[in-house]
Amino acid sequence: MKFLVINGPNLNMLGIREPIVYGSQNFAALCEFIEQSCRDLGVDCELYQSNHEGDIVDKIQAAYGNFDGIIINPAAYTHTSVAILDALKAVGIPTVEVHISNVMEREEFRHHSFVSYAAVKTFMGHGFEGYRMAAEFLKGYIEGGQ
Ligand code: DQA
Repeated sequence: MKFLVINGPNLNMLGIREPIVYGSQNFAALCEFIEQSCRDLGVDCELYQSNHEGDIVDKIQAAYGNFDGIIINPAAYTHTSVAILDALKAVGIPTVEVHISNVMEREEFRHHSFVSYAAVKTFMGHGFEGYRMAAEFLKGYIEGGQ
């Protein structure tokens, strides 16, 4: 089983960026955490980060036929991007959405997610742990053939 894990804009700035909201660990630590979580589950994963909406769309399109599941933290594009939503719907790969912070407890403009329309599940407000929860859920979801 192989997962594509996508992180959107500004997540490469973890550790520097608003530590009160996102914690003090940096992006390299997040990548290590995700890779270890997938290894523990016996799942292969490829990590991808981009600050560019079109590049994320291209990556999702290229995932067609190559990945069993997608874990995505679309970051700010969560709240704006119909293009990323449409790409996820186009490829039809089971997708779980993750947010490090609890977007529902933040500004109102963060309460709506376009990506949620394509995601089978969303984990928010669990910090890095949300990615592990997403990988575990996605593995079970795919194995269950739901
Ligand atoms: C985020 C929440 C988004 O609202 C924000 O734009 C991000 C990160 C999170 O992981 O909590 O960049 O997706």
